[in-house]
Amino acid sequence: MIILAIETSCDDTGISIINVKCQNSNVKSCNFEILSNIVSSQVKIHAQYGGVYPLLAKREHQKNLPTVLKKALKKAGNPKIDLIAVTQGPGLEPCLWQGINFAKELTKKLNLPIVPVNHIEAHILANLINNQQLTINNFPAICLVVSGGHTQLILMKDFGKYRILGETRDDAAGECFDKTARVLGLGYPGGPAIEAKAAEYDIRNTPYEIQLPRPMIYHKNYDFSFSGLKTAVLYLVKKNFYKNNQLTINNQQLAIISHEIQQAIIDVLIYKTLKAVKEYKAKSIILGGGVVANNELRKQFKLKIVNCKLKINFLVPPKKFSTDNAAMVAIAGYYQWLKGETKSWKNVEANAHLRLK
Ligand code: KG4
Ligand code: ZN
Repeated sequence: MIILAIETSCDDTGISIINVKCQNSNVKSCNFEILSNIVSSQVKIHAQYGGVYPLLAKREHQKNLPTVLKKALKKAGNPKIDLIAVTQGPGLEPCLWQGINFAKELTKKLNLPIVPVNHIEAHILANLINNQQLTINNFPAICLVVSGGHTQLILMKDFGKYRILGETRDDAAGECFDKTARVLGLGYPGGPAIEAKAAEYDIRNTPYEIQLPRPMIYHKNYDFSFSGLKTAVLYLVKKNFYKNNQLTINNQQLAIISHEIQQAIIDVLIYKTLKAVKEYKAKSIILGGGVVANNELRKQFKLKIVNCKLKINFLVPPKKFSTDNAAMVAIAGYYQWLKGETKSWKNVEANAHLRLK
């Protein structure tokens, strides 16, 4: 089965074509061959604002979609498409509509079925890329989805069976990276910028001098809060590194603060995920979302699993499939199609606040 998927929930315009091949008649145990996966990033456009500007992003999607489609079809060798999948939400409403309307036009033109996809489920199922498998033996799983717009801990009992255990009450983890990077003058997107600066920090040369909060880490629930961390960085920088309204901070200080921001976020994410793993006797940990592209987060998760002697299936997508892309939407689209969620194009609508069920 060949699926063409469209992703426009935030600032990346993505179109991917995949070939789904299932072993025997086991439709849940499939390989997802990626025939093409084109992502047109708008980073340069939004960098000047230090974050995503929804109406500008919408306009860029409109401009990019026809070109991205042409590239995706050409790279895939112009196969005959069987199904269209499109991100329905959550995300920025004007951006979602742009992708949905484009998908509807295509659906009508090619006379194809269409399935709407939840962006969070797509981040989880990105783990099936590169022949990684999830079988009934791997459930229940605890999924941590951390991106620029979301921070959620999810209990996954099977494909399509989710329960949100906790989520951020204010800023998402990626948003915290983006906003603190802006305070430090490190540019957008903040996650990769903070990660690169933090990697310059060497504890042997510089003893630790600052301690940032780990918000809600020991709270009984599974909720998160990152706005306090952002505010703590803002105060720290204003108090110590502003002279005559100018940021005056040297490279070593930047490295120390970046390292501590990254570590504070990692500490909270790992602690809460492992707490959920124990409570729900999970057999897998599944990571997804742009923030899990972070090398230090991946490394520390693996180390913690070894140190705690946890016998657990640990899944994290290849880096380029952690951040937004349409290949993950195609995979999630396949599982929606299995569930019989095919819709008439007339009934597909954006839902900026769509939640996993
Ligand atoms: O999943 P994604 O591409 O888009 C949303 O659905 O929001 O995630 C983007 C977020 C941004 O906040 C970005 O700063 C963060 O992921 N990010 C990272 C890294 N790469 C991207 N955060 C930490 N470390 C990284 N290497
Ligand atoms: Zn995302």
